[in-house]
Amino acid sequence: MPKFLSASPDSRLLPLPWETPLAEWPVDLLVALPRGLSRHVVRFIQVGDSVYAAKEVVEHLALHEYRLLQDLNRLNTPAVEPIGVITGREDAQGQSLDPILLTRHLEFSLPYRSLFSPGVRKGTVSRLLDAMVVLIARLHLIGFKWGDISLSNILFRRDACAFAAYLVDAETAEMHPRLSKGQRRQDLEIARNNLYGDFLDLQAGGLLLEPFDPLRLVDTVMKRYRDLWQELTGTEEFSGSEAERIEGRVRRLNSLGFDVAEMAIETETGSAGHSVIRIQPKVVDAGHHRRRLMRLTGLDTEENQARRILNDLDAYRFHTGQTIVDEAVVAHKWLTEIFEPVMGQIPLELRDKREPAQIFHELLDYRWYQSQREHRDVPLVEAVSGYIHEVLESLPDEAISHHDMIPAAKMHQLVNPFDPSQGFVEDGEDKPYDPWEDGTPEAAMPSHYLDIDALRARHHQG
Ligand SMILES: Nc1ncnc2c1ncn2[C@@H]1O[C@H](COP(=O)(O)OP(=O)(O)O)[C@@H](O)[C@H]1O
Ligand SMILES: [Mg+2]
Repeated sequence: MPKFLSASPDSRLLPLPWETPLAEWPVDLLVALPRGLSRHVVRFIQVGDSVYAAKEVVEHLALHEYRLLQDLNRLNTPAVEPIGVITGREDAQGQSLDPILLTRHLEFSLPYRSLFSPGVRKGTVSRLLDAMVVLIARLHLIGFKWGDISLSNILFRRDACAFAAYLVDAETAEMHPRLSKGQRRQDLEIARNNLYGDFLDLQAGGLLLEPFDPLRLVDTVMKRYRDLWQELTGTEEFSGSEAERIEGRVRRLNSLGFDVAEMAIETETGSAGHSVIRIQPKVVDAGHHRRRLMRLTGLDTEENQARRILNDLDAYRFHTGQTIVDEAVVAHKWLTEIFEPVMGQIPLELRDKREPAQIFHELLDYRWYQSQREHRDVPLVEAVSGYIHEVLESLPDEAISHHDMIPAAKMHQLVNPFDPSQGFVEDGEDKPYDPWEDGTPEAAMPSHYLDIDALRARHHQG
């Protein structure tokens, strides 16, 4: 009999065919969602309205990964949520089968292959690299050595104009009280090799064209990691007359999305009798804006979404003349007078397109764009209908709705739609036309898609 190990048991899982090897599960239990490449058999299974990722893997690794994912979730570090491990599986002949590790499918997540397309913008790639660097640094800050940093082991979610990266595969990882420089270096060495291979792969597949160069992309990741790590943990020294630089450091860290929980400050008198101050952040926590927004409104968002919404909250406070009213009171009013009514206008069937906070962020962008176009201040409630018709309706679904999210053309080319690791069907010379593999960048976009980034860039130029 299979045994379930779980902190949040879901009884609907019990009747699933655990005695069948995962690769042979009936397709009516599975959903084909885009995903990265894997060594193991991985499937998305649907149970009621939940979707779980199932991975068949040897017992000690399944338990190890389950526990590490629990640690990461406890420490609020972006990673998929572990659901349980099913052990003691036997097939009909009494042969034992490897356990299955279950994680919750990360809603609205985008594996890297859905983000890279021919003609992918420089800005997009740059933001993906940034998200990756922030994730690696956050993991290193809590003593987590990943051991297998690669594009396939990272999931991305939209976060305002940027991306947030999540860890998806912790099989090779180790948790330590803290990491030595050597341990971090090892992790980065693995990252360098894997990422280089991943970028070459994308290049070979025509998804990453000029001017992108795999080697330069990898070097950029390494450099940005070093810069971020220096900012997060580096020692700074200045003269006693520049004491305001202590606050400057805290503000810089806040603007990167980090809070300083502990800063070591030393003063010492130098040789010429001048005092010297030395500061070093000792404990920094990610999620500066996110925590503040959560405290004020209860909204759970990504970091940059929170930053954007907090700006709107500040603007609301100013415009409504409430600057001396308590911040929490204003936040509550903003929530009930702005956020909720505006979100209430989004038709139910369009809510699978984006997360609520992302919709709100895009709506703020749209309002800006409409105000520019019409030379007046467009109220948010008024901008909603334009946003719905001109932007939201034309976007592809990103939630796990019951629709397939792999473009149909691509689905048919996969050997197995539930397992992209098996690659594509070899069609010889005359491959069917696939807009995703066409050289023209616009082909992947619906023609009526309103590209706010591009408009904005043009506006600033003109
Ligand atoms: N909880 C999840 N949510 C979304 N996607 C997932 C989840 N778990 C796995 N995946 C997808 O499946 C792929 C393979 O999973 P992974 O754990 O990396 O397997 P392996 O250990 O064989 O490399 C990942 O690249 C990711 O795209
Ligand atoms: Mg993996």
